[in-house]
Formats: sequence, C-alpha cells, structure tokens
Amino acid sequence: MRVVVTGASGYVGSATVAKLCRSGHSVVAIARHKPAEPMASGVTWVPGDIRHMDLVRAFDGAQAVVHLIGIIREVPQSGITFEWMHVGATERVLVAMRAAGISRLIHMSALGTRRAAASQYHRTKWEAEQLVRSQAGVKSTILRPSLMFGGAPPFFEMLKSLAQLPRVPVPGDGRTLFQPVSVHDVATLILETLPDNSSFDLTLEVGGPERFTLNQLFDGMARRIGRPHPPKIHLPLGMVGAVARLSSILPVPITPDQLAMLTEPNVTDDDTWHRWVPAPESFSSWNAKEDPHR
Ligand SMILES: NC(=O)c1ccc[n+]([C@@H]2O[C@H](COP(=O)([O-])OP(=O)(O)OC[C@H]3O[C@@H](n4cnc5c(N)ncnc54)[C@H](OP(=O)(O)O)[C@@H]3O)[C@@H](O)[C@H]2O)c1
Repeated sequence: MRVVVTGASGYVGSATVAKLCRSGHSVVAIARHKPAEPMASGVTWVPGDIRHMDLVRAFDGAQAVVHLIGIIREVPQSGITFEWMHVGATERVLVAMRAAGISRLIHMSALGTRRAAASQYHRTKWEAEQLVRSQAGVKSTILRPSLMFGGAPPFFEMLKSLAQLPRVPVPGDGRTLFQPVSVHDVATLILETLPDNSSFDLTLEVGGPERFTLNQLFDGMARRIGRPHPPKIHLPLGMVGAVARLSSILPVPITPDQLAMLTEPNVTDDDTWHRWVPAPESFSSWNAKEDPHR
C-alpha cells in the first residue's frame, strides 16, 4: 500500500515509517525538515509545512494516511498554535484526502482527550477527533496513547536530565499515574490496523501493561544515571503554575498546559488494542534493558 505519514520525521513518525517500510509498504513522508540520517528504502520525502503545502499533490496515488503531526508547546509568534496544529492541520488533511480520493485514515490523538479537558492540548485533540468522526466517507481509526517510551523518548529523556540535579524538582506530590506504552507497539498497532476493516470507526485508548506514578518514573530514569532514589523536592502546584504562566514571554521549561497534563491521571482500562498487539512491552523491561546500572 502507498501510505502518507504526516510528522514522519518525529519520534512516533520515525518508528512508524520504519515499520511500514519493513513490511513492504511505500511511504510518502511529510514534515518540514528532512532528517539528516537516511530513511528506509521505500520512502518518498515531501518536505513542507502542513499549514501551507499542497497536500493534494503529496497525497496523489496514496491509499491511506497516517496523520501524526501534533505539538506539545505553542509558538504563537510563529503561528504554531494548538488550534492550528491539531484542528486546522486535521481539517486540511481531511480536505486533501477527499480531493485525492483517499478514504482510509489512522489519526493520532492522545489519552486524556475530552471536550472539557484542563489542557488546550487535549481540548484541541478532541476537536480534531470530532472532525475526523464527522467526515462522511472516511474510514478512520483514532489512537489515544499514553506517554510513549522506546529509543530516546523526549519526555523520559527530560526526566533523566532533571534527575541529575542535586534535588529533583517534582510538580506537586508526584503521585499522578501514567501508563507508558512502547512507541514500537504503537507503530505495530498502526501497521496492523491499517488494512483491517474491523478497526474502522474505532477510537482505541492505548496504555502499556503497567502503571507508574510520576515519582516512580523519575526513579526509573534516575536509576540509569546511577541514582536509584534521588532526593526530590515537591514544588507547590501554585508556585509551578505561576512560573508556567511566564512561558508565553520567557523560555521557562514548563507551560500551564504541560503542568495540567502532569497532574491528572493518564491511564486506561481499555485493552481493545491487544487484538492487534497481544503482548505489549512493559516500561520495566525496556528500562531494565537500557539501564547501564543493572
Ligand atoms: N510522544 C508521546 O509520548 C505521545 C503521546 C501521546 C500522543 N502523542 C501524539 O503523537 C503524535 C506524534 O508525536 P511525536 O512525539 O512523534 O512528536 P514529534 O517528535 O514532535 O514529531 C512531530 C512531527 O511533526 C512534524 N511537524 C511539526 N510541525 C509541522 C508542520 N507545521 N508541518 C509539517 N510537519 C510538522 C515534525 O517535523 P518538523 O519539525 O521537521 O516539521 C515531526 O516530524 C502527536 O500527534 C502527539 O500529540 C505523542
């Protein structure tokens, strides 16, 4: 199958493109910048900004779209907003699919997405999901993963670097629960559901086999640098919130949106996705493999 992947150079995109190509699909890869390292054979690179590029041309001849583009932080001065990157980009993808005669779509959302979510990230992901669901003639599968691990996951790399500080700064009590899932399992899910009619019109919540508090995730990543239980300093949420609000004018490391997401549980009981990935990898086994101190 010829498959368009948007966000192809990103963390999830690279794993997805590699898996699709290994399975004999050809991929039309979209992102603004072409990665420096060569991609798998079978990839046609179409660099461009999803907000302006000619998507109909890029989609020509494809049978399916895997729409992965998403952001975690806005850059309003460059027009990079949640509204544009989640809702506007999805709308452009749907319009281009109709024009190019493509009906199959795997759409990347996120666990925690709901109409009245605390974060703009989740609210705009919800709006994008609604657009996908309301599109007549589109056979969609919507994926809502929790945090992803595998390779060099940006979120866990950030925890690891914070774990080097004399006292690890944790927003709040650090007891928020997460259910990390392997990026390679998510890529497998994309590969396996792509041709499977039984996945059409489903929204799949995707959580790994274990749940961890934020404190435990810090400890897990800290172990890798030889500090199994680093001393932590639990920062009052009001104080972190005040700092986060400065993120619109100063380069502070956390935004109000990210803080909202770090302080609400991100777990699911839905295991429908095991139909396509019956034995997902656990965070513990991945972390043990990668941990030089074990
Ligand atoms: N990572 C996680 O743990 C996680 C968890 C749940 C859901 N998700 C969702 O999964 C999706 C992929 O996440 P990720 O972690 O792979 O993100 P990522 O590493 O930041 O990748 C984003 C991709 O989108 C491309 N992109 C960004 N802005 C673009 C634009 N204006 N036009 C064209 N391409 C653009 C980026 O390449 P350029 O910068 O070169 O354009 C890159 O290829 C997102 O929708 C995210 O919300 C991720």
